[in-house]
Amino acid sequence: MENRKIDRHTALYFKNGKAMRNRVVVPPMASQTATESGQVSAATLAHYERLASSCGGLLIVEYSYVHLSGRSETNQLGIDQDAQIDGLTQLANLIQSSGALAGIQITHAGGKTERALTGGVLHGPAGIRVPVKDRFLEEPTPMTPADIELWKSSFQNSISRAVQAGFDLVEIHAAHGYGINQWLSPITNPRGDGLDLLVEIVAEAKRRFPKLLLSVRMPGQDFIEGGLQVHNSLKIALALEQTGADILHISSGIGGWKRPGTRSGEGYLVVEAAEIQKVVSIPVIGVGGIESGKYIDESLRQKRFSLAAVGRAILNEPKLWGKQQLCTG
Ligand SMILES: Cc1cc2nc3c(=O)[nH]c(=O)nc-3n(C[C@H](O)[C@H](O)[C@H](O)COP(=O)(O)O)c2cc1C
Repeated sequence: MENRKIDRHTALYFKNGKAMRNRVVVPPMASQTATESGQVSAATLAHYERLASSCGGLLIVEYSYVHLSGRSETNQLGIDQDAQIDGLTQLANLIQSSGALAGIQITHAGGKTERALTGGVLHGPAGIRVPVKDRFLEEPTPMTPADIELWKSSFQNSISRAVQAGFDLVEIHAAHGYGINQWLSPITNPRGDGLDLLVEIVAEAKRRFPKLLLSVRMPGQDFIEGGLQVHNSLKIALALEQTGADILHISSGIGGWKRPGTRSGEGYLVVEAAEIQKVVSIPVIGVGGIESGKYIDESLRQKRFSLAAVGRAILNEPKLWGKQQLCTG
């Protein structure tokens, strides 16, 4: 990381020559505006135009399913069909013309969904129920080698579609209890081979698209008894850096993205991000209740992270937040 003084307005340059104009990331936030076939709608475009008025340096479009078997909401964006590429291209263009880099998060829900949404399928690495906090999920079917291959090819095909649509960055969703998180977590995958699938997806994506920026949203910990702890996450982070990930976006795991009862103040998940930023040299995104430019500048100064994600504070009042905290000129 740089030694010169940085604050939220400092640009960040990537090895591929692309740059973020500042240190603020608008993180993926599901808007439930897609059509039933996962297509970008007029409402989706309007929603992202609004978010783009925040002046963020990178705007990551909400979680988009890589295969119908991994869909978790009726109006979720899809990136599983070529027919979706036109709408996604409009979305990427709209974000880029605001001056931000355009990213898109891709996901497979695994066992964190319902059969009614997936064409009857519910898959998990070991057939263990995902213990999410807000509802009781059905026990998934353990994945066969063919199912694993389907996930791998679906992630790669979706990455190709994101590249065709012109996105600068793809973020693989490996947090919040969804499919890849189920692989990583000892709760839902006691076999200990949990990192293999994610590393393979990242390695293959980097081999096919060496210039595409690749982010992984991963848990700093699962925040649930028996789950991933920070020492596990440090290992995962190092393996991902070595495999070629460009950014690590540190959120929480099976416990979900919401503030754990034990945490208060701005940056409620930044403790873990800071631990990880100490051991990797690629940029780490910190998240959780961040609202003020002052907090971001102070954390950058302390090298707790290289980038700050501001979710709900921007979602609530994108233009006002940008005007008060970020936009220049
Ligand atoms: C409406 C809403 C939708 C969200 N959808 C996603 C999502 O699609 N993918 C994801 O990784 N996180 C999602 N999140 C979590 C946010 O990216 C972020 O981690 C969380 O809101 C905490 O940051 P904040 O306190 O700045 O809002 C969502 C959050 C909200 C409020």
